[in-house]
Amino acid sequence: MNIHTYEKLWLVAAMVLIVGFIATITYGSVGLGITMVGDQQPTIEPSELNDDERFGEPRVEHVGENEYEAYVVAQTFAFYPDPIEVPTNSEVTFYVTARDVIHSFSVAGTNINTMVIPGEVAEMTVEFDEPGEYGIVCNEYCGSGHHNMEGMLHVVPEDEFDMTELSVDADDELELGDEAAFNVSVENRMLDDLETTATLEIGDETLEEELTVAGGDLEETTFTVDTTDLGEGEHDWTVAIDNYEESGTLTVVEELETDDENEDDDADNGADGSDGDDDENDDGETDGGEDDE
Ligand code: CUA
Repeated sequence: MNIHTYEKLWLVAAMVLIVGFIATITYGSVGLGITMVGDQQPTIEPSELNDDERFGEPRVEHVGENEYEAYVVAQTFAFYPDPIEVPTNSEVTFYVTARDVIHSFSVAGTNINTMVIPGEVAEMTVEFDEPGEYGIVCNEYCGSGHHNMEGMLHVVPEDEFDMTELSVDADDELELGDEAAFNVSVENRMLDDLETTATLEIGDETLEEELTVAGGDLEETTFTVDTTDLGEGEHDWTVAIDNYEESGTLTVVEELETDDENEDDDADNGADGSDGDDDENDDGETDGGEDDE
């Protein structure tokens, strides 16, 4: 049988195209690691996210030497947490779910891109080598604010990354002669121990305390300053550890005049440790104030 040369050429070209198409589809579905929102994660009740162990508090968790897990909630019209912060040289597994309607979790400039469906948990593992800032966008139309739904992913250099939380509980106003207590709590959410120094600066005084916070633990310490040494007036204070600081102002007056309601509120909001102090002040203040008037 004689086949015309051109016909042979077209036959070969058609075969090459078919093989080429099959190859690209195979590479796209297997080689790039693209998968559907997996079934491997159990379903989740969207209305009960607040009570969920993983999504009740959206966050990044340190789970292994260079391994992190990020629990992300997408809802109209934001992503939580925002920003998401992870270190370089890390392997991060994102678990993303939606609270209300279908969204997406797409990190611009990376191959992180998934649909986020209420009731399902999308899982993706990504390695980050270079520091950078990436925008997160939603690319599933989810309502009137869809175009504003965005978040940030910060990949910070490994040596600048930590998961420390500092909080300070202190009095706003005290009477001359009282002792000012600064209750400092330091939470270390990394797995490694954190060795740090907490410092309090107030007036001319600087107090320091070495702290070792075990991985995943919380340490508390209290700085006390005698208000007699500070004198009357407003005193700005700063409590610092590593890159974190909290500051405020302590007002020292000769005699306090306060209405009891406010003071009571303060005492209620305060940490357990400070309640005693506040109450004592209450009594003293009220007496003093009334005498004055
Ligand atoms: Cu969320 Cu569009």
